[in-house]
Amino acid sequence: MASIDVMRDPTKSGKAIRAQLRETIPRDIALETDFKEGTKYTITEHVTTLLDELCKNPRTLAVFTSLVKHLHAFARETELSHDEWRLAIEMLTRAGKESTDFKNEFILLSDTLGLSVLLDEVAHPHPDGATESCEEGPFFTVDAPELPSGTSLVKDGTLGEALYFESTVKNLQGEPIKGAKLEIWQADGDGLYDVQYPDRQEANNRARIVATDDGVAIFHGVMPTAYPIPSDGPVGDMLRATGRHPHRASHLHFHITAPGYDTLTTALYPDFSPFLGTDPVFATRKSLICPMGLSTDPAEWAKLGLQEGDVRTGRVHIWKYGFVLASNEEVAALKAKKK
Ligand code: BEZ
Ligand code: FE
Repeated sequence: MASIDVMRDPTKSGKAIRAQLRETIPRDIALETDFKEGTKYTITEHVTTLLDELCKNPRTLAVFTSLVKHLHAFARETELSHDEWRLAIEMLTRAGKESTDFKNEFILLSDTLGLSVLLDEVAHPHPDGATESCEEGPFFTVDAPELPSGTSLVKDGTLGEALYFESTVKNLQGEPIKGAKLEIWQADGDGLYDVQYPDRQEANNRARIVATDDGVAIFHGVMPTAYPIPSDGPVGDMLRATGRHPHRASHLHFHITAPGYDTLTTALYPDFSPFLGTDPVFATRKSLICPMGLSTDPAEWAKLGLQEGDVRTGRVHIWKYGFVLASNEEVAALKAKKK
């Protein structure tokens, strides 16, 4: 219990603050800043001065100082109202409550505000000529089977038109990367990933394929169609409030790894897909949009290694792409140059 002296003296602090004062707070920064003569005091200066005085870790200081400055500038610029502030707080609260292991509303928010793409640009640069990266999204799983190049990704009965995919994996010098591993995952012809089927027994529409010695990786499967990102939560509401839609163009996802090379996470898009220009997660880069081929010739299908039963609509989509990986040294040199 505090003594009667302390309780009566409003110039003294409570126990918790006194403990902090001894350790960290050298003087009353707020008051000094507030009353500095001839200066126009703002709450932004107050917060950043306090951080400057008290935050010991230089990186933490830099990040929070910048965050506070931008957040305050945003509120000033928009003349943010209390109602709008409350709406944002409610949205973030819902984002926390409605996130699950399979749907993280905060990541979706980062994706749909373009922050995830920007982060990749800032934190994971690629040298010119290397394949551009793109977000992983929420549908990657670790149980994809390892299959030889040239085999099929799909289980019997998978919905979708037949697809033949052929790729090369090379380095920036144009040399094939022996042993490069391509992990592929994709939606089916109905725009659904295997994990979105409640009766999923095993992986489907996904595989790990090791490129041949000449850097070639081939697979057969089905042509994915466009599908929406989850839009039943606060991020969906934000998209609707801003007049946007949740639909992603058709795509194939890849993780490509090879010893000594920078891991590439990317996706490819067929040029005929709808929604290429209005991707809700801003991940459809021009260099990842591919011209597509179509074969209606059974003799050609056989040459591509497709069985009669694989082709149910009389045509096979032919998709080719040349991946280019940067080496770890090339990426490190680029990062050093950007500093
Ligand atoms: C996707 O491609 O599956 C995806 C990517 C980012 C956010 C949501 C979905
Ligand atoms: Fe996807």
